[in-house]
Amino acid sequence: MGCMTRLTVRTVAHLPPPALEDVRIRPYGITDGPRLRRMSERLSKASLYTRFFSGTPHIPDHYVRLLERLDHWDREALIALDADEIAGVAEYSRDRRRPWCADLAVLVTDPWQRRGVGSALVRYLAQLAARRGITEFEADVIPGNRDALRFVQHGWPTARARTVDGTAHFQLPLPVRP
Ligand SMILES: CC(C)(COP(=O)(O)OP(=O)(O)OC[C@H]1O[C@@H](n2cnc3c(N)ncnc32)[C@H](O)[C@@H]1OP(=O)(O)O)[C@@H](O)C(=O)NCCC(=O)NCCS
Repeated sequence: MGCMTRLTVRTVAHLPPPALEDVRIRPYGITDGPRLRRMSERLSKASLYTRFFSGTPHIPDHYVRLLERLDHWDREALIALDADEIAGVAEYSRDRRRPWCADLAVLVTDPWQRRGVGSALVRYLAQLAARRGITEFEADVIPGNRDALRFVQHGWPTARARTVDGTAHFQLPLPVRP
């Protein structure tokens, strides 16, 4: 009942926008598939394109299947939940040949963008990764994706991109843990 009330009042325009305090972050679980697919309803084509590097009207099936196979060590995903719906997801995938490196990807639904969800997800994910021996995230961003470029620069102000196969490739050091 509490959740229903909150979702309903948010549709009233004069009330404040959703706040980060309303969001819970937890690992992606095996029952989250339908939730992940429903996330598409709150994603613009532009957001989907910049995350998946291809025109897709919804979260691709291969991505849902990928998250079903997380081992919570070499592959991890965290989700931010607004009531029962996913506001954002961030994942890493360890490089087999360079096990101290992992690919990072983040996707936040349009209504939740620029409210700190992406930063919170990456912060928690970086803590988990560092505990698992990962010292560096790598991220690929389409050069025209200014939001993501600014997002990376916000988290890693000194990071500089290399252009690899037409994408901006970042190497992002994680804090070394004792
Ligand atoms: C890029 C993305 C992950 C950012 O997530 P987010 O939750 O919106 O980002 P945050 O609110 O945590 O932003 C943190 C900082 O990044 C920068 N930033 C993020 N989005 C920005 C934007 N649209 N314009 C300018 N700066 C931006 C700002 O410095 C911001 O801090 P501030 O709001 O205090 O100024 C999100 O916009 C997204 O999912 N986009 C579509 C998919 C994508 O591009 N993924 C990245 C490639 S894998």
